Amino acid sequence: AKILLVNGPNLNLLGRREPGLYGNDTLNDVVERAEQQASNADVEFEHIQSNAEHELINAIHATDAQFIVINPAAFTHTSVALRDALVGVNIPFIELHITNVHAREPFRHHSYLSDKAVGVICGLGTKGYEFAMQAAIEHVTKLPK
Ligand code: DQA
Repeated sequence: AKILLVNGPNLNLLGRREPGLYGNDTLNDVVERAEQQASNADVEFEHIQSNAEHELINAIHATDAQFIVINPAAFTHTSVALRDALVGVNIPFIELHITNVHAREPFRHHSYLSDKAVGVICGLGTKGYEFAMQAAIEHVTKLPK
């Protein structure tokens, strides 16, 4: 079984980007922990971070993962194309945000993905990645072999 972790635009700046909001962990810290969780569960793991919408879409099209954990970042609030890609490949996904988007600017309250997600995690900091990975691992390890 395999899980794809997708990180959208500006998440490469984690650790130095508005640390009061997003915390001090770097993207590398987050991805290493996720990778470790997967390997502990004997699940394959793949990660992409890109600032380019089409690269995220191409990675979603190309993956052979059975589950996706995605922080779409700003594309959450803008991208019909990312929504269509996730629905198009028919791979179940968890949408994740480090911050509580509902407690921020009104333009962050709407997501193009949430109604298609298995679940949504937001506001729990980078810990949210661990919770999402745990749920994803449970999902893929219960799939028929
Ligand atoms: C984010 C929230 C988005 O509104 C924002 O554009 C991001 C990060 C989060 O993880 O809290 O880039 O997805």
